[in-house]
Amino acid sequence: LIQPVVLSGGSGTRLWPLSREKYPKQLLVFMGQDSLLQSTLRRLEGIGDAGSAPALVVCNDEYRFVVAEQLRLIGKQGLIVLEPMGRNTAPALTLAALAARAGGDDPVLLVMPADHVVTEVQAFQDGVRHAARLAQAGAIVTFGITPDRPETGYGYIQAGAAVDEGGACAIARFVEKPDRATAEGYLQEGNYLWNSGLFVLRASVWLKALQLSRPDILSACQTAWDKGVADLSFQRVDAEAFAACPSDSIDYAVMERLAGAQAVAGLPQGVVLPLSAGWSDVGAWDALWQILPKDEAGNVTQGRVLMQGCSDTLALSCGRLLACVGVQGLVVVETADAVLVVDQHHTQEVKKIVDRLKRDG
Ligand code: GDD
Ligand code: MG
Repeated sequence: LIQPVVLSGGSGTRLWPLSREKYPKQLLVFMGQDSLLQSTLRRLEGIGDAGSAPALVVCNDEYRFVVAEQLRLIGKQGLIVLEPMGRNTAPALTLAALAARAGGDDPVLLVMPADHVVTEVQAFQDGVRHAARLAQAGAIVTFGITPDRPETGYGYIQAGAAVDEGGACAIARFVEKPDRATAEGYLQEGNYLWNSGLFVLRASVWLKALQLSRPDILSACQTAWDKGVADLSFQRVDAEAFAACPSDSIDYAVMERLAGAQAVAGLPQGVVLPLSAGWSDVGAWDALWQILPKDEAGNVTQGRVLMQGCSDTLALSCGRLLACVGVQGLVVVETADAVLVVDQHHTQEVKKIVDRLKRDG
């Protein structure tokens, strides 16, 4: 059995003002009719049991009704595990693993961030089937993406010896979010892949690995889970116990320690499976502009937008008429209470505006 697990906890600050604390990016519709969360689940349709199995969605308590409604709209069943506060991905996956183990089963978990885009679904599904076979045998499998720039927001995986004839390799080294110079070095060396943030592993393998590398996280999550209560399709965890859980990501807590300098003895084998399926992490406006359909001048428009003599511009209106004349390489986003105008090359810095808003109110 492949058990889909969706991590849906981020707030997507770089996609402000569309993405808000109250309505984060994974719940927004950027393409077609589905939100990123809904596309994440739909991507599994036709893959066999994983496509029909009820998903485990881990999200903040605040989003419970929107998440439940979005699942209902696409006809998906699921257990929604509610976090009283964010503690990053290692605790979120631990809650999912405990939920999966609750019935006594030990399924292979397919761990998916709720905010990624995959354009080649068939290739993705083939990769999942392949990864599940390796995970069934006890490996922690991640999908690797061929890097095309020294991005510092990703994890880098050095591929080691082949573990099968289908392209899977041992993880020789995993480095989460290196600095720019280090990332440039990895690109030059050539045998590094980006970590896609998708993981495939058995529930018991994750719990055992965490016991070895971060027993403090495991025991806090176990207490929060044991004291939790089921509430229809929601599973609540104990707020006080979860608040006491250290915050850490899957990448730092376990992946970096599977091999290389920081290796912890006894951890399972890490395997990287190269994935070529049009994967992208829709982190900022420029990434969104990349994947959306464009006109011949490279413009993307959504909503009531008029363009005159513009190129390479993304203009999105939520209500008022938005007109752009003679501009190049801009992102313009109109919402009810905020308007963003940003150069394509500075979209990462939108986060700084959000930080300022949070600080100054
Ligand atoms: N439930 C829950 N709770 N989900 C969370 C939490 C949390 O506290 N924190 C983050 N998430 C979800 C996010 O919504 C996202 O879907 C996913 O977990 C990954 O978290 P990010 O915060 O987006 O991680 P990242 O992008 O900085 O880095 C990860 O992804 C990169 C690829 O996109 C790492 O795995 C990197 O190694 C990887 O390259
Ligand atoms: Mg991310």
